[in-house]
Amino acid sequence: MTHHSDNNRIIIFDTTLRDGEQCPGATMTLEEKLQVAEMLDSMGVDVIEAGFPIASNGDFEAVEEIARRVKRATVAGLARAGDKDIDRAGEAVRHAAHPRIHTFISTSPLHMKHKLQMDPERVVEMVSQSVARARNLVPDVEWSSEDGTRTEIDFLCRCVELAIKSGAATINIPDTVGYTTPEEYERLIRTVIERVPNSDKAIFSVHCHNDLGMAVANTLAGIRGGARQVECTINGIGERAGNAALEEIVMALKTRHDVLPFETGIDTRMLTRASKIVAAATSFPVQYNKAIVGRNAFAHESGIHQDGMIKNAQTYEIMTPESVGVTKTSLVMGKHSGRNAFRAKLEELGYTLSQNQLEDAFNRFKDLADRKKDIHDEDIEALVDENIATAFDRIKLVSLSIVAGTRGPQRATMKLDDNGHIFCDEVEGNGPIDATFNAIKSLVPHEANLELYEVRAVTGGTDALANVTVRLSSGDTIVTARGTDPDTLVASAKAYLGALNKLIARGARIHATAPGE
Ligand code: KIV
Ligand code: ZN
Repeated sequence: MTHHSDNNRIIIFDTTLRDGEQCPGATMTLEEKLQVAEMLDSMGVDVIEAGFPIASNGDFEAVEEIARRVKRATVAGLARAGDKDIDRAGEAVRHAAHPRIHTFISTSPLHMKHKLQMDPERVVEMVSQSVARARNLVPDVEWSSEDGTRTEIDFLCRCVELAIKSGAATINIPDTVGYTTPEEYERLIRTVIERVPNSDKAIFSVHCHNDLGMAVANTLAGIRGGARQVECTINGIGERAGNAALEEIVMALKTRHDVLPFETGIDTRMLTRASKIVAAATSFPVQYNKAIVGRNAFAHESGIHQDGMIKNAQTYEIMTPESVGVTKTSLVMGKHSGRNAFRAKLEELGYTLSQNQLEDAFNRFKDLADRKKDIHDEDIEALVDENIATAFDRIKLVSLSIVAGTRGPQRATMKLDDNGHIFCDEVEGNGPIDATFNAIKSLVPHEANLELYEVRAVTGGTDALANVTVRLSSGDTIVTARGTDPDTLVASAKAYLGALNKLIARGARIHATAPGE
């Protein structure tokens, strides 16, 4: 085994729950955030940025609960440079085994003038005040220069030196707008480390956005420049074009160890599972050809490639599917599988459920097995993920029947349960989906707009589960939810209701009413 000094160990800072969740439509419920945090902790992430506590009570509670539960990783809360932000972040992470406050302020001329409307001297003052205040609350403080890649180098070095002097042990230089290039970013990180006199007292961090598709390349370049912490998200979710993808950085370091001799603490066999959990929790599908975790990432379709693979897998495979946790899809479960087999299957797929969750999931599995002959791993994952996502929903679908076909108008008869009260209506529409959504609007009057409606089959075959994604917007709030069922219309109703429940969880005043009320 080759031994590397600690200097080659890369700290993985995951911001799926903060920068990832911040992107429109990727909102997660508390339960979903806890599930993601638990998974990140067990896969070996070093720092989990759990949220932005000042943003809302929901964000605060999520960071606080994650801080209580996570035992191994450091839990960070984000804060702007103001006192209130920092105090709130400190309060949210105070129960963590390893708490961190991550505070930031813009340092580029453009941001200081137009966004902050502060002169540079005021920003310098804020850097020392904010870091010192955070340092009084927790021993571990990270400071970020927002829009760092468009900041004047002398000013950047001055702020970094001051942040370290004020007590920051991690200095992050973000490419907030996804503007830099690998060569430029490597040079920037190296220059800051060389020029700042006290740079040896801090770990330097990189944080890249993907606006030009270079987030991962820039992150790796930042490591070459001397950074030893990388900030990233599962599936690369995040603002606009997203953040650097954790799975791509980790597998690049592992696969190209010859040219990138760095180590991480990530159990790479959990990457596929992590991708699925985040996709389910955010309802953001993963593109089929996404590196490492896309459905096609290890599929070899062309005859020439298949022939090569049969002769020697290395002809076209630079990493094994097993190394990222892709298991061969097996038809293991069916109508006659019992509770123990089901529990063992869930464990194999990486789930640890409470007794109640297990019972619910098992009942849904039995219902499905009555209707579908072959149950694939993907079916079980879709079913359990939906169970976790909807466990705390207030409005639930009781029943739906549809009259559809060539002769319209199509009709939907729907029964809903809102906190134990049952409401029912029959509504027409221009097609069965329209009728289904009209029935929901009639029973649960609301103003939200439908931004996205998408149907995918979980597996092949005409009896496959339908996985429907619905995105709703209400004012500034955008939420996305998924529904799964062998019946596409039932899956559609569940997805729409899931999104409404997410709006309710974010404070929207929505209630079911009897028709005509
Ligand atoms: O992109 C960015 O600059 C950020 C900071 C808050 C670190 O997300
Ligand atoms: Zn960011």
